[in-house]
Amino acid sequence: MPIPFVEPFRIKVVEPIKQTTREERSKILAHAHNNLFGVAAEDVFIDFLTDSGTNAMSDRQWSAMMMGDESYAGARSFKNFEKAVQDVLGFPHVLPTHQGRGAEGMLFQTLVKQGQSVPNNCHFDTTQANLLTQGANAIDLVVDESADSSSQSLFKGNMDLEKLEAFIQKTGAENIPLGMLTITNNSAAGQPVSMANIKGTAAIYHRHNIPFIIDACRFAENAWFIKTREPGYADRSVAEIALEMFSVADGCTMSAKKDAIVNIGGFIACRDESLKLKIAQKLIVHEGFITYGGLAGRDLEAVAVGLREGIDESYLAYRESHTRYLGDVLAEAGLKVYRPTGGHAVYVNAARNLPHIPPSQFPAVALANMLYIEGGVRTVEIGSLMFSHPDPVTGEELPAPNELVRFAIPRRVYTRSHLDFVGEVAREVVKNADAIKGLKITWQPELLRHFLAKLDWVEN
Ligand code: F0G
Repeated sequence: MPIPFVEPFRIKVVEPIKQTTREERSKILAHAHNNLFGVAAEDVFIDFLTDSGTNAMSDRQWSAMMMGDESYAGARSFKNFEKAVQDVLGFPHVLPTHQGRGAEGMLFQTLVKQGQSVPNNCHFDTTQANLLTQGANAIDLVVDESADSSSQSLFKGNMDLEKLEAFIQKTGAENIPLGMLTITNNSAAGQPVSMANIKGTAAIYHRHNIPFIIDACRFAENAWFIKTREPGYADRSVAEIALEMFSVADGCTMSAKKDAIVNIGGFIACRDESLKLKIAQKLIVHEGFITYGGLAGRDLEAVAVGLREGIDESYLAYRESHTRYLGDVLAEAGLKVYRPTGGHAVYVNAARNLPHIPPSQFPAVALANMLYIEGGVRTVEIGSLMFSHPDPVTGEELPAPNELVRFAIPRRVYTRSHLDFVGEVAREVVKNADAIKGLKITWQPELLRHFLAKLDWVEN
């Protein structure tokens, strides 16, 4: 009998986590200027801030780390790493970076010039920031239904192909140095992108001679969704689907901290050797030599093993059902859960749970903060604190398209009873939702303000 909902692993090492009182947490959060990024991890009971780099590694990964070759040039560990990327993603050329944003930075510094534009279904915050620091524009062209948290469509992370074509016509392909697609679409509630859409996006970019680069952070979860949701793929393996997805792209950036199930690492992979050699020159200045790119040999070994574990189908079946279970638990508690749930996270529509708080007072920050105060559960806002931006014409501050709270689930870390506990915390928060206040910013940095902003509760 297939039992996909059970953890396909057992626990060999444990890390104690600490319970604090509600009163202590209120003080801790106030001390952190009401910004959960400022709270010490040991003051968090269940940490859903991110699924990035927070994964539990397997015994095989830890064993491989002991075999790390720490040579500066030509390390054996690089060969293992390169082979895993070649086998799993199918690109011949591979450059390691310290994490995903390092890959983005190196790629954009090589290819993107001031004033140019890069389309994507949705750029994540670091991708957007890496383009902005080049003086370029990050253009999001996701399908409209991604903003509809109740639509049951199965691929709400898709690129809107009509919008993409129109954007290229209007902007001119000569002003678009590369085109991207993020799978799964983290900024659009972790929704997947269908194989048909990946191929459609590739065809448009290639018709205009624009290099097509995939943001591959959560490629394995995307491949799993294609297998289980897209007609014609049920009998194909995730490994085959992954290769098919990447076969139409010219390259990718990858944060290995996600679907390669490690704590640090990333890479750029591509088909064209001359592009690799151009990027390599930047890489050596900023990240490190081309056979380590800012990582230790042991980190490369962990990625090499983790990439293969990340496409294991019993793991992916568990991963998807685990996330769906949290979505069900939170919905039952009364939170407005984005449906269908994504691969790595559950997203809650805070604007619907807290309709009395306007976007200018950050309803998703308010909800996230109350989940922490109530039960020590740390989540992250993906709303107007993270993504509001000035209107290019009027300069007026525009809210983000959605006010979401993301419960990002570290891989292989929490059990079902942890998820049940989070449901209880959510139930308490929902009970008193009407009394929750909004927040205002008292200080913010110029870029990526959500990480460092200081906030205060708004008094009525
Ligand atoms: N692209 C996407 C889609 C991401 O989700 C992230 C990171 C990156 C690029 C950058 O990778 O962190 O290794 O530099 N997302 C994390 C998150 C931080 O919490 O979603 P990185």
